[in-house]
Amino acid sequence: MVSQVSEAVLDVIADALVDKGYILLSDIIPDYVSLALLEKMQVKHDIDFKSAAIGRGIDQQINTEIRSDKISWLDKQDHTDREYLSIMEQLKDGINRRLFMGLFDYESHYAVYEPGAHYKKHVDALKGSQNRILTTVFFLNPLWQPEDGGQLVIYDEHDVALETVQPQMGTLAIFLSERFPHEVLPTLRTRNSIAGWFRVSHANHGF
Ligand code: OGA
Ligand code: MN
Repeated sequence: MVSQVSEAVLDVIADALVDKGYILLSDIIPDYVSLALLEKMQVKHDIDFKSAAIGRGIDQQINTEIRSDKISWLDKQDHTDREYLSIMEQLKDGINRRLFMGLFDYESHYAVYEPGAHYKKHVDALKGSQNRILTTVFFLNPLWQPEDGGQLVIYDEHDVALETVQPQMGTLAIFLSERFPHEVLPTLRTRNSIAGWFRVSHANHGF
């Protein structure tokens, strides 16, 4: 089954990206998809999640002072992952039709933050390559309470906190990758999410 994102929702997302550069949504991914993703994360846990690295290529390193989540990349061949990726593809096409952002592809990983894990304030667009344009973070934690920690804090360019997002099951955050520093506060409970990035093609940018 492939779920459809309505034109009305795509309009809301595009308008928000123009107005403020980000949006928080709570009912765009159907529950059966969220539940399948969560179940998959829980089953896969300890099998092929790896400590997340920072940087790219030869600069890549694991630094648990900065981030201490464990990740596993989504795979188009997997039927559960494909359901999520097909929704992201509809977002990509819908946003491109409205805003001509030239979004070209999407990469995403599951992330598990065990109790005590965090991700210090950072910007997603990697140094020297401006190809990550739009970030998505989807949360998979039923019944999250504020005292569980693990909030995603989104800052503006002056480091003023704009939003403190509870990583609640079904919440999707979308924001311009270069514009918003953000962090994951230390979590007290195991916290599951899927972070992803729409990228532009190097070919469009003269590299
Ligand atoms: C990231 C990130 C936030 C989260 O992976 O770059 O900011 O809540 N993740 O998983
Ligand atoms: Mn990030």
